[in-house]
Amino acid sequence: MKKMLFLAAALSSLLFAQSETETCKKCHPQIVDEFEGSMHRNATYYNDPIHKGAWDLHPLKEKGDYSCKECHAPLAKNEEEIKDGVTCASCHTIKDVEEHAAKNKNVFGKNPKTFYSAEAGREKEKVIYKQESSWFGMNKTTVGSPYHDIDYTNEKFYNGQMCMGCHSHRQNGEQLMVCETGKEGAQNKEENCITCHMPKVQGTATTIRHSQTHAYHGFAGSHKNPEMLSKYVDLEFNKNSSGFDVIINNKAPHNLMLHPMRVVELRVNVTSDGKVTPLKPLSFVRAIGNENGPSMPWLANQVVTDTMIKANEKKSVPYTDALKKGDKVEVQLGYYLVTPKAAEKLNIQEKKELQKFNVLKQKSFIVE
Ligand code: HEC
Ligand code: HEC
Ligand code: HEC
Ligand code: HEC
Ligand code: HEC
Repeated sequence: MKKMLFLAAALSSLLFAQSETETCKKCHPQIVDEFEGSMHRNATYYNDPIHKGAWDLHPLKEKGDYSCKECHAPLAKNEEEIKDGVTCASCHTIKDVEEHAAKNKNVFGKNPKTFYSAEAGREKEKVIYKQESSWFGMNKTTVGSPYHDIDYTNEKFYNGQMCMGCHSHRQNGEQLMVCETGKEGAQNKEENCITCHMPKVQGTATTIRHSQTHAYHGFAGSHKNPEMLSKYVDLEFNKNSSGFDVIINNKAPHNLMLHPMRVVELRVNVTSDGKVTPLKPLSFVRAIGNENGPSMPWLANQVVTDTMIKANEKKSVPYTDALKKGDKVEVQLGYYLVTPKAAEKLNIQEKKELQKFNVLKQKSFIVE
């Protein structure tokens, strides 16, 4: 009965106009809290300074044509809603994904209150909420959510393909591939975009029907929670006659970094007889640009350099520094979201936290 009263309270407060997340928060508080800090929620020029920097320089801005919206705030109908970025419904109403050469396209379901989702064991269920019989009548059949219907039958929510309307690839006007994630990570239920980037974490998915865990909605990525992904990258060490190798093992089914602004860096320190020697850092990038070198994505017509660590690559990096028994070799693999130089172009120099070196993985080895 307590539950019912709570529900009544939740439902009556829904009658007042409020933002989508405030509504969802009534019954999915933990998921909404996680989501508030995510890059999806913060994907537009209101909350993402990198996006704002790029948009401010973009030729479409002058024309007032915020076409970026298609992926950065797909359901926004006005300026106010652009603030909300990629909303709950922008994902949960994706029915299908159409494939196209320049970029894919999300196909949304007809009913804005039918949410697609995934749950092991319920793959064949469609939960339709019937007001009279199951809620206000307080019958035994109060299955599902009193606010929306749920369709568990969309396999794209099990294999990660629902992420691919926005994440698959994007070409610019020059038909140059600006970024590409690759389909390999959206093939099966066992390991895909969702299992890696939305791992199950402690806490109930809804306040109404308790579960031990729920899919993490803060989205682990390069801005947020990279530590949740560090287990998918490994570092190995191999001493040989001419020095040593550091082996980077990328277990992700896509390039280690995807956006052309990112720079991956490998740092190695050798400690010998108490003296620390930092070796020269090594960078891995996929830079795009034109005849004049690296450029903003929309001005690029070629790949300038591509040393990025590829999908599932095991990359061996040779060092010719001599080591002796007992030396300590500390290895750090990390990345910059934007380099200080790019930050200058984007006019975000004062945003120091976006220019710092982020450690993804570190390990140390003692020479035997
Ligand atoms: C009045 C309470 C209530 C509100 C408000 C509500 N939900 Fe739900 N929702 C539920 C309940 C209860 C379930 C679990 C149904 C079940 O397990 O049978 C659920 C389940 C879901 C699921 C599927 C979960 C799964 O098992 O995979 C999604 C997705 C979802 N809600 C999204 C939303 C979004 C987005 C909003 C805001 C627009 C929202 N909900 C608002 C009560 C609510
Ligand atoms: C086809 C979908 C799509 C369209 C259209 C799109 N983007 Fe994106 N954008 C993405 C995705 C997905 C990411 C995240 C990828 C990543 O981090 O590798 C992203 C990331 C970015 C980033 C990096 C943000 C950061 O915080 O590091 C910038 C900048 C950006 N987009 C700018 C734009 C601009 C400007 C436009 C419009 C001119 C645009 N995008 C249009 C899908 C799109
Ligand atoms: C085996 C686990 C795994 C799978 C599967 C996976 N990823 Fe990743 N992903 C990673 C790792 C590791 C990184 C790099 C670490 C980081 O960004 O913090 C990453 C980074 C990213 C980034 C940030 C890249 C950038 O340049 O900022 C995006 C966006 C992303 N993945 C999207 C996807 C999508 C979409 C899929 C499904 C097609 C997918 N991932 C599948 C592990 C995975
Ligand atoms: C970027 C896409 C995306 C966004 C945005 C998103 N979700 Fe989800 N959500 C998913 C996917 C995919 C799943 C299925 C994960 C699984 O269980 O495998 C899911 C699962 C859920 C579940 C069930 C969780 C569980 O583990 O049982 C609920 C409830 C839910 N979402 C609510 C929300 C609410 C509320 C919002 C907005 C605050 C939201 N989602 C935003 C993609 C998204
Ligand atoms: C409606 C479009 C859309 C869909 C669907 C979508 N994303 Fe995104 N995603 C974006 C955009 C846009 C960004 C870049 C936001 C920014 O940095 O401003 C992004 C960023 C990310 C990032 C980078 C986060 C970080 O901290 O850097 C990850 C990881 C990610 N998405 C994973 C997923 C996964 C997994 C799915 C499927 C469950 C998914 N996305 C579905 C549009 C989408």
